[in-house]
Amino acid sequence: MATQAEPATTQTTADQFARYEAAFESIPPPFAFVDLDAMRANVTDLLGMARGVPIRVASKSVRCRALLRWILERDARFRGLLTFTLPETLWLAREGFENLLLAYPTADREALGELATRTTGDPDGAPVLMVDSGAHLDFIEAAVPARSAPIRVCIELDVGWWPLGGRVKIGPKRSPIRTPEAAAALARAIASRRSVRLVGLMAYEGHIAGVGDDAPGSRLRNIAIHAMQRASAREIRSRRAAVVDAVSRVAPLELVNGGGTGSLAATASEPAVTEVTAGSGFYDPVLFDHYRSLDLRPAAGFAMPVVRKPGGRVATVLGGGYIASGPSGRDRLPKPYKPRELRLDPFEGAGEVQTPVIGDAAASLTLGDRVYFRHAKAGELCERFSKLYLLDGDRVVDELPTYRGEGKCFL
Ligand SMILES: Cc1ncc(COP(=O)(O)O)c(C=O)c1O
Repeated sequence: MATQAEPATTQTTADQFARYEAAFESIPPPFAFVDLDAMRANVTDLLGMARGVPIRVASKSVRCRALLRWILERDARFRGLLTFTLPETLWLAREGFENLLLAYPTADREALGELATRTTGDPDGAPVLMVDSGAHLDFIEAAVPARSAPIRVCIELDVGWWPLGGRVKIGPKRSPIRTPEAAAALARAIASRRSVRLVGLMAYEGHIAGVGDDAPGSRLRNIAIHAMQRASAREIRSRRAAVVDAVSRVAPLELVNGGGTGSLAATASEPAVTEVTAGSGFYDPVLFDHYRSLDLRPAAGFAMPVVRKPGGRVATVLGGGYIASGPSGRDRLPKPYKPRELRLDPFEGAGEVQTPVIGDAAASLTLGDRVYFRHAKAGELCERFSKLYLLDGDRVVDELPTYRGEGKCFL
């Protein structure tokens, strides 16, 4: 894979389309691709926003082993992966990835058995599990052999925004642990068991990192979201510091993780945080166009072939119905990207087997032409394609298997 560093060039939309068309001329659609020039620029931006605080890379938002490796090797400030299932974590560990933090609790007894073996072989470097309750500790204890070295665990803290004395609750429903007292109590419960060892604290501000404050067509909503995010960030700053202080009195912490692409700069500025997480920012999917604080470049997309022409300003492509997860709505649809100014049909959206695109540019499209789309989210694209064509400058320089292409289907 190409690894030389160089800034992305500024290109007009028409240039970009011509560049795609020339580079992908011999590749029959459907296919997915990653634009390395844009990825390099995003890498630079993300590192700049983190201001020297190490970035843990969210594997769920990349889902391509070779690209995860590429990112980690680009800069020493990228440190470790935030993974999404225990089988995935163990696979990555077998493939030589180190410093793995599993961001979501597991109930996979079989994989816990394998983790126990790995932890016994590497008590200080084995992957770390997420916990938020005594029930998680019981589950782990029941699944691992008594002779195993203690499983490394991380406490997840809820950092949702609860104004009006908690009558309104904004933020992902993840951990029940919110206060320094609750976190310290769980830390003591961990310290009292032989089966587990506390190494970290993680808090993800999903209502800040994952909600754009510059969405099209909703000025008042954007103002309200921005105000909520600012107020919440202030509250998190002091609460997270108090929790870190309380937990550190029970056990020394190797890591305090926070943030995501949409909150990178704010979270990295908190003294209590030792590392931030980013994943989506590498590909820069459509949802990340809608943040005031971000100026990333679209780096991943997919191309579908035109297969019919129902009318003058309509072309229909094969497939394309790759809907993103989350609260269902129009913002979860893929977006026609090039040629310019195409839009989805509001009555059909993006379909399982065919997707009409509408606009002036559709008039000149003929059968077999490529329409380029962007996914609303990042890593989910890789569950639809077995490889990513790697575009570097004006050439396709490599084909990289996605997780799916490696026969892996974790979620
Ligand atoms: C725990 C955690 N941290 C960070 C992130 C942010 O990742 P991204 O940069 O892909 O938005 C997520 C995404 O859901 C997450 O669950």
